[in-house]
Amino acid sequence: TSSRRHLSTAQSLPPTYEKLFNKYTDVRRVLGKQRLTLAEKILYSHLDNVEESLLTDTDNGRSIRGKANLRLKPDRVNMQDASAQMALLQFMSCNLERPAIPASIHCDHLIVGSKGAADDLEAGIQTNKEVFDFLESAARKYGMDFWPPGAGIIHQTVLENYALPGLMMLGTDSHSPNAGGLSTVTIGVGGADAVEALVGAPWELTAPKIIGVELTGKLGDWVAPKDVILRLAGELSVRGGTGSIIEYFGSGVDTLSCTGMATCCNMGAEVGATTSIFPYTDASARYLASTGRTQATRNIDALQNFPGAGADRDAYFRFQADEGAQYDHVIQIDLSKLEPRINGPFTPDFATPLSKFKDVAREKQWPEALSAGLIGSCTNSSYEDMTRVESLLKQAADAGLKPASDFYVTPGSEQIRATLERDGTLETIESAGGILLSNACGPCIGQWKRQDGVTKGTKNAILTSYNRNFAGRNDGNPETMNFLASPEVVTAMAFAGSTTFNPMTDTLKTPDGRDFKFAPPRGLEGPQTPFEAGEPSLGVLSQEPDPSAQIAISPTSDRLAFLEPFPAFPDSELSGLRVLVKVTGKCTTDTISAAGPWLKYKGHLPNISTNTLNTAINAETGEVNAAYDLDGTKHTIPELAQRWKERGQEWLVVAEHNYGEGSAREHAALQPRYLGARVILVKSFARIHQTNLKKQGVVPLTFANEADYDRIAAGDIVATVGLYDMLRNGGQGDVHVKVTKEATGEEFLIPTNHAISKDQAGFILAGSALNLLSKGL
Ligand code: F3S
Repeated sequence: TSSRRHLSTAQSLPPTYEKLFNKYTDVRRVLGKQRLTLAEKILYSHLDNVEESLLTDTDNGRSIRGKANLRLKPDRVNMQDASAQMALLQFMSCNLERPAIPASIHCDHLIVGSKGAADDLEAGIQTNKEVFDFLESAARKYGMDFWPPGAGIIHQTVLENYALPGLMMLGTDSHSPNAGGLSTVTIGVGGADAVEALVGAPWELTAPKIIGVELTGKLGDWVAPKDVILRLAGELSVRGGTGSIIEYFGSGVDTLSCTGMATCCNMGAEVGATTSIFPYTDASARYLASTGRTQATRNIDALQNFPGAGADRDAYFRFQADEGAQYDHVIQIDLSKLEPRINGPFTPDFATPLSKFKDVAREKQWPEALSAGLIGSCTNSSYEDMTRVESLLKQAADAGLKPASDFYVTPGSEQIRATLERDGTLETIESAGGILLSNACGPCIGQWKRQDGVTKGTKNAILTSYNRNFAGRNDGNPETMNFLASPEVVTAMAFAGSTTFNPMTDTLKTPDGRDFKFAPPRGLEGPQTPFEAGEPSLGVLSQEPDPSAQIAISPTSDRLAFLEPFPAFPDSELSGLRVLVKVTGKCTTDTISAAGPWLKYKGHLPNISTNTLNTAINAETGEVNAAYDLDGTKHTIPELAQRWKERGQEWLVVAEHNYGEGSAREHAALQPRYLGARVILVKSFARIHQTNLKKQGVVPLTFANEADYDRIAAGDIVATVGLYDMLRNGGQGDVHVKVTKEATGEEFLIPTNHAISKDQAGFILAGSALNLLSKGL
């Protein structure tokens, strides 16, 4: 077959590209000359089930998107320190020697930004030592790359080291799509999904729709790549990208730097996109070279010119869309006409052009004083960003000006920081009074201990070059208004100390009374000599698995605990379950597993489980977080669940509509399972949470007749009827629950619906997806 021919002739390619090339050839065999977008080429060349997914197509690609279930085999998994904890604990419970694909761990989320890089890093390491020690020990044992605290923010490190055109990666963080700036399909997922990929199971995704963004022209003065995505967010809104990949194309793409493209992809998360991607350009090749990956550019050249594809140009894996590829929807942006934007407050899609911002700020009575300007983070800490900022700082210094607001800079990685130090940029920042924070997320994820006296509840405005601006996101103060802009605009406005200053038109007064107007920022796309590696102690630990390495978890730890695999489903129907609590109203994943201070316990299932459903409303009493034991004693919901767990009493929760909406937090499924939940019976589920429950071995059922919600009460005895057969029949068959009222002995059957597929029935029977998948290898 043609694929065999390619297998033998592709020997000159490096193994990953050889594999992708061969798979891509299979895809072409199935799809013929159908024109594909870049995102589709990359996704489909990672399919585990090419024929099954693509042969469903009867309509030139249109019946794949939004419909086909893609089973994908990603090339690697990247994890940040907060989400890596539970992911690794679950992976460890599989008893495998090494992950099926390469993985890396990045310690970036737990460092608090406060006084400055050196102090903050030391304090962060002390506070979180046991978590970092655990992550490092797991990395040693399983041969995963470990980036210690201070090494950098996951997305910057990934872009500098792991992103490569044509690859597909999963990242346990929503801004993982950043790597799309280097033509990599990278999707943000939860820990459980990451573990499935680590054990070698295919990762499932409904084939996304493709939103095309056609860029033409060239960015003008003061306009940055950030403004492309700020403008797009204004158009698409926070939900406009849901179920879609945003793919950029057009002549304007060739005018952007690789890191600028990454910024656009990073913030695609703000419109809910599955991921975002740019084609491979000369700027991508330059970035690969400056980050020390010249071999990669040679490999790409070899792939682009590989003779195996014959005369069929479409079959070349060129990291570009085929000419004439169809998008579900195309948005056109002329870069030459683009104006800087400022987005916010409290939502990233409220976009105001810079020229109108003064009026809008006054009309909406946003604070005029700017309390702080913060630049950097995973979104905007590139060499280009920082040198453009440097050009503004130098002008201001020459005029004798200092920033009027506090001005913080977070480098995205040690490599960036060291290179900026070498090239004198850091000195310019520090002599302007800029406070350099450690190479970590810091204020971007609420890890910001403000030193300026702005206390919780005080209304104030900050301007950041970050990506998210929900209330409380940066300093925990819901009254802090975070406005998002490019680093250049943030910097210039920090000098004015005012939200109504427009650096393109307005002037500042110098100390000697002259009018000063910033000239437009100028910077360099990348360093003139390759990036510096930086402090050796902040480099990566990369080694083969060491099975003799001990996992560092203290038995007395309150932040980390080993996970025991969940037991398998009994060889029978479930019987003798009791209704723990009947919940009314909204029950989000936040209700089931609260965030905030609880995040500290993400790696300790018993401890974090003490928050289970602690803001749920008891339907029978109207109380929050109240449940009653069979003897009538009142407890909090998690306390009663714990008591029942100790007694061996398994239980179910009854609730209303859209149970488990909100973020895809896996703890919201793990915690009830740990405490003894077997069934969740509700009027309807949020889709992702329903899937998460099945992955953890909990049976999600919905009332066939909603009115039955009123017939069942806390404390009722419940048995399943038909569930065991349905599971053994791969999800086929009806399920009822038999309810017994203890006081009266009354019994009745409630019909239910389920959405359990064959695979998921296997997960539930095995006790969890992981139990099954780890056995299957
Ligand atoms: Fe997330 Fe850290 Fe970036 S918090 S947004 S990865 S800086």
